[in-house]
Amino acid sequence: MNYTGRFPAARPRRLRQDDWVRRLTRENVVSTDDLIWAMIIHDGIEPSVPVTAMPGVARLSVRAAAEAARRAAQLGIPAIAVFPHVDSAKKDPTGKEALNPQGLVCSAVRAMKDAAPNVGIMVDVALDPFTDHGHDGLLQNGRILNDETVEVLAEQALVQVKAGADIVAPSDMMDGRVGAIRAALDGAGHHDTLIMSYAAKYASAFYGPYREAIGSGKLGSGAVANPGDKRTYQMDSGNTDEALREVAMDVAEGADMLLVKPGLAYLDIVARVKASFGLPTYAFQVSGEYAMIKAAAQNGWIDEDRAVLETMMAFKRAGADGVVTYFAPKVAEMLGA
Ligand code: PBG
Repeated sequence: MNYTGRFPAARPRRLRQDDWVRRLTRENVVSTDDLIWAMIIHDGIEPSVPVTAMPGVARLSVRAAAEAARRAAQLGIPAIAVFPHVDSAKKDPTGKEALNPQGLVCSAVRAMKDAAPNVGIMVDVALDPFTDHGHDGLLQNGRILNDETVEVLAEQALVQVKAGADIVAPSDMMDGRVGAIRAALDGAGHHDTLIMSYAAKYASAFYGPYREAIGSGKLGSGAVANPGDKRTYQMDSGNTDEALREVAMDVAEGADMLLVKPGLAYLDIVARVKASFGLPTYAFQVSGEYAMIKAAAQNGWIDEDRAVLETMMAFKRAGADGVVTYFAPKVAEMLGA
């Protein structure tokens, strides 16, 4: 129970009067250890290609990604999550490039682990960077097939783990994929590979800039015209109890860590998931959240540094153990300064 005194004996402002006492009484802290650096990679040779809708973020070549991994190690960032922009010539309806052990993701994972063995590398498990229609799963007559997709995802995860990935993060929202991935990994002796489940992932407008970043946005050659519409597999933003059911199923199937996505608009979900399950729980500050802060800051409307740190604090206050964010190197620099 909180003690509350009465004015004038109690004056809450006493605890705010100086920096030292504010620091001394702060309930939550943001640390570099809380960061997972969201990083876009591409299969071209240009070291870095700017993403227009995400000022300050660029698609990195495999070689530049390895350099960035070294930088993460220097900054003390524990882990990097990679997201691939694949040459459109390699995309097809089934996303089979996702299974290529010599493909972009596996090459980058190898190069990054080589360059910085002590930085954890997390990979996305989903087909959208590899399908020509931009959906996360296999498409048939305008519907996303669940069980057939899960089989491919388990294979994709295994290929990525063989390349050296430390954490696989299924972001596809198919039913049963965590269990299938766990079984595939265990069957091949990868008992220690972590699974961070995008357990509660919502169909969101905040993924907008990501579609440009990975080049999945203006596609949609399949029977579903709009690849932005993932509402038959991602969650409805009106739901909370459903998030807990999703999490419960993923935990039962073997998820080690949980991710809530997007971040800022879903802090209630972060809080409820953390309170209900007590597992390591992360928030994903997605591309649209990044873009909003950047756009306002570029117009001089908000102070970028303060706004970024404030969002980090919001995630911590809600109960997150860490944050997947494109701001990770910036935050690490600010905290280290
Ligand atoms: C898809 C995936 C998405 C993101 C990560 N993995 C987009 C989507 O679900 O449509 C979004 C990341 C971001 O917006 O920063 N598997």
